Amino acid sequence: MTEQPAAPTSTGDAVVPPGSPGLENLLTEERRFPPSPEFAAQANATPDAYAWANADRPGFWADQARELVSWSTPFTQTLDWSDAPFVRWFADGRLNAAYNAVDRHVEAGHGDRVALHFEGEGGDTRTLTYADLQREVSKAANAFAALGVGTGDRVAIYLPLIPEAVITMLACARIGAPHSVVFGGFSAEALSSRILDAEATLVVTADGGFRRGKPSALKPAVDEALAKGAPSVSHVMVVRRTGQPVDWTDGRDVWWHEAVDAASATHAPVDVEAEHPLFILYTSGTTGKPKGIFHTTGGYLTQAAYTHLNVFDLKPETDVYWCTADVGWITGHTYVVYGPLLNGATQVIYEGTPDTPHRGRWWEIVQKYGVTILYTAPTAIRTCMKWGAEIPEQFDLSSLRVLGSVGEPINPEAWMWYRRVIGGDRTPIVDTWWQTETGAIMISPLPGVTETKPGSAQVPLPGIAADVVDDDAQPVPNGGGGYLVLTEPWPSMLRGIWGDPDRYKDTYWSRFRNIYFAGDGAKKDDDGDIWLLGRVDDVMNVSGHRLSTTEIESALVSHPWVAEAAVVGATDETTGQAVVAFVILRGDVAEGHAADAATVQETLRTHVAKEIGPIAKPRQILVVAELPKTRSGKIMRRLLRDVAEHRQVGDATTLADSSVMDLIAQGLATPAAASQD
Ligand code: PRX
Repeated sequence: MTEQPAAPTSTGDAVVPPGSPGLENLLTEERRFPPSPEFAAQANATPDAYAWANADRPGFWADQARELVSWSTPFTQTLDWSDAPFVRWFADGRLNAAYNAVDRHVEAGHGDRVALHFEGEGGDTRTLTYADLQREVSKAANAFAALGVGTGDRVAIYLPLIPEAVITMLACARIGAPHSVVFGGFSAEALSSRILDAEATLVVTADGGFRRGKPSALKPAVDEALAKGAPSVSHVMVVRRTGQPVDWTDGRDVWWHEAVDAASATHAPVDVEAEHPLFILYTSGTTGKPKGIFHTTGGYLTQAAYTHLNVFDLKPETDVYWCTADVGWITGHTYVVYGPLLNGATQVIYEGTPDTPHRGRWWEIVQKYGVTILYTAPTAIRTCMKWGAEIPEQFDLSSLRVLGSVGEPINPEAWMWYRRVIGGDRTPIVDTWWQTETGAIMISPLPGVTETKPGSAQVPLPGIAADVVDDDAQPVPNGGGGYLVLTEPWPSMLRGIWGDPDRYKDTYWSRFRNIYFAGDGAKKDDDGDIWLLGRVDDVMNVSGHRLSTTEIESALVSHPWVAEAAVVGATDETTGQAVVAFVILRGDVAEGHAADAATVQETLRTHVAKEIGPIAKPRQILVVAELPKTRSGKIMRRLLRDVAEHRQVGDATTLADSSVMDLIAQGLATPAAASQD
């Protein structure tokens, strides 16, 4: 049982949830960066968009949908909210996402424009124009269809960030088969549960990818996941990337280079209804089981294209855009695949880590391709800050003209460093707030329009209605803090949780009636600008990745040594939050291992990596004799967070046994009980 929803801590009238590094500055932040006249003069976004959208929000989105997306059957209906919270946008229109992302650019004479500059970790490169992409996507679509994948069938994708990942997603979209991308860093166990939940018929994977200079295998995890039983899967298509040996199941496994290369390069995109599911993407919630968030076609594409064009000020003929996210996350879906390609952008994708083979790799890539727009996460910026400005300073970054941030609150100092060191004190910064569920950016400055403030995402985009409310759903006044909510439906809104409509209603629409509860704490400053303060539920944000405390607890207690576990997200200077676990060992194990905390720690960390993936590994595991619980048996994570962050433990009066915190504190004082990497 968990303390749910965890109450944010109150500092005066500001709600300050844990894990908001540097945000103590927010009440005194005075720095302002108005757009330069030169930037404003050429900007895609214009200030009048807000008034236009406010006057008729659905009408505004209908205009965007007509302008930015090509429909095979134009829609006549815009918004249907009559069955709230289930929404329909542009419902009688028909279209195809891959046609929109690829073919129409070729038809418009841009076939020679580079769509993807791929940079492998080892320095190998590939360039795909829009015409190349059209050919490759068509071939893959034909190959998938030949394996029996039809419109509506689900395809699981477990690939490194290589062109085939983008091609596969688009090939699925081309045949109307919703894709479910599973991040390559997730374990066989996590992959298995996602394949089962979506009942995927095809899994597309690779022998492996390159990570930190070494090949890192992927196919064995697919084999292991399928060995657990996956009756829906009939084929596994395997891209040869690293050349590692792979086990092979005849009749089930198919090489990409055999099936796709032999397929016809002509494929007619399948028209689907606007509300046809485009993809499922699993994300962590407050309970143990990840949620299959699903998005549909027309509304999602509309908002992906609109936001990408306006928030990044994209000029498709001249910009070189680079979003550093992996396609395993929503940022990769909307701002590597659909947004940029819908807008005919030229972009960079990079397979590896920022420090392979050296800590200047990202900046070398910016210089090499003349990247003009860079979109990344605060954790990456803070890591580069730690490595030192002298590294990026060795490269020519003068091509950059817009910088974006996403995934977690960006502390003002990281924002300032990003602007000064990477952006040469010249580039606008857009701090973009959104979620897997929102599908596309919701709150962000508009470059060329908004006067920016370090650390604030500031204003809902035109066409978006967001607010900060108190416990009774009342908007807080300027200067007040509360919960971030979205008060009107938006085109790229999630359409539900795959196979679980009740969970969809409970999770997002039951906290406040008929308004969407995002799970984030926020504050309005004196100008009414929004500052995001982190999650107020049992979701942690580690390096911009969402992790559920309950999911990691379930993983820990599935180990035979563990009797009970409680997990908290502790503030971490680089990663925003870090996973800290408190475990009670089983009596018999505690006897044998109490003196060897290092073994316990390593064994359990490895176990969590196996159950979920390396990203979920606790930074620290503390062996304790008791956990603090209320009289009704709920774990008081707030107190554990105090311990994990080395703070004075807060109000413990509601504990069933008030001596527990003393016991924990005493236990932690013993060196054998606590160790850290
Ligand atoms: O807590 C917010 C944080 O990331 C959560 C959404 O995570 P996910 O669905 O994985 O999507 C991440 C990429 C869109 C949010 O509930 N978050 C995202 N962007 C920001 C942010 N927190 C503060 N500022 C942001 N710009």
